[in-house]
Amino acid sequence: MKKYITKNDLLMDIACGTGRISTNVCRSLDLRLILVDKNIHMLNVAMKKINMRHERNKLINMDVYDFLENNGKTDNVKINDINIFTCFNAIHWIGLGLFKKLEEKMSPGSLFIILTRTKKQNKESFFGLNFPKFADKETRLFSSNQLLDGFKECNLSVVETKFLKYQILQKKSKLLEQAKKKSYSTFSLYSNEEYEKAMRIFKDNISSKPEMLNVQYENLLIIGKKQ
Ligand SMILES: C[S@@+](CC[C@H](N)C(=O)[O-])C[C@H]1O[C@@H](n2cnc3c(N)ncnc32)[C@H](O)[C@@H]1O
Repeated sequence: MKKYITKNDLLMDIACGTGRISTNVCRSLDLRLILVDKNIHMLNVAMKKINMRHERNKLINMDVYDFLENNGKTDNVKINDINIFTCFNAIHWIGLGLFKKLEEKMSPGSLFIILTRTKKQNKESFFGLNFPKFADKETRLFSSNQLLDGFKECNLSVVETKFLKYQILQKKSKLLEQAKKKSYSTFSLYSNEEYEKAMRIFKDNISSKPEMLNVQYENLLIIGKKQ
């Protein structure tokens, strides 16, 4: 991302959640940040991570479609001034409709950056391989082609596509806890009965694995630019 960014650029993180990615990016690259999320509890956590004394840093508790519809007026944001829009791990919540709605408001030269996992990457993830029906239940994710088409159908040229692959050494107990706490929203797509049954099979599936596991994660990063 670094090579496309200039110090003092204004970045808007759409569906920022707790801002775990964008607050770090903005701190390390010295960018100003606008965080948008419809969930106030997420924003309350994010608020502690950004310097609110900086007049250009803002938190917006709104559905992104409503925000774009009213041109940022409610929050006194000039959408034209924003150089970079990001959407990390959330395009499957928001839908591909965002491309057109956002592109209409972006100024020429500005970037739209998506980080997500594709359907295929989800299927090959730790939970996709070990937690029954994890990949089948998650019908919201897109394929890489669907995402790339989304960019092409708008006036957004794709300047970079990166399939990212990395490993993290994790405790098996921690992964079990993630499933118990339903850390991925996919777990909420199971009925109680289905989830309990899947959980029993999951525990069985991982029982013979060592306590420390090299877990593989994959993501897709796409950077689009408004012409
Ligand atoms: C999986 S979290 C991703 C959070 C963060 N970007 C990250 O990578 O950690 C998805 C977030 O999208 C937000 N969200 C979903 N639909 C939204 C919408 N239409 N407008 C604004 N926020 C939305 C949810 O409230 C949630 O915080």
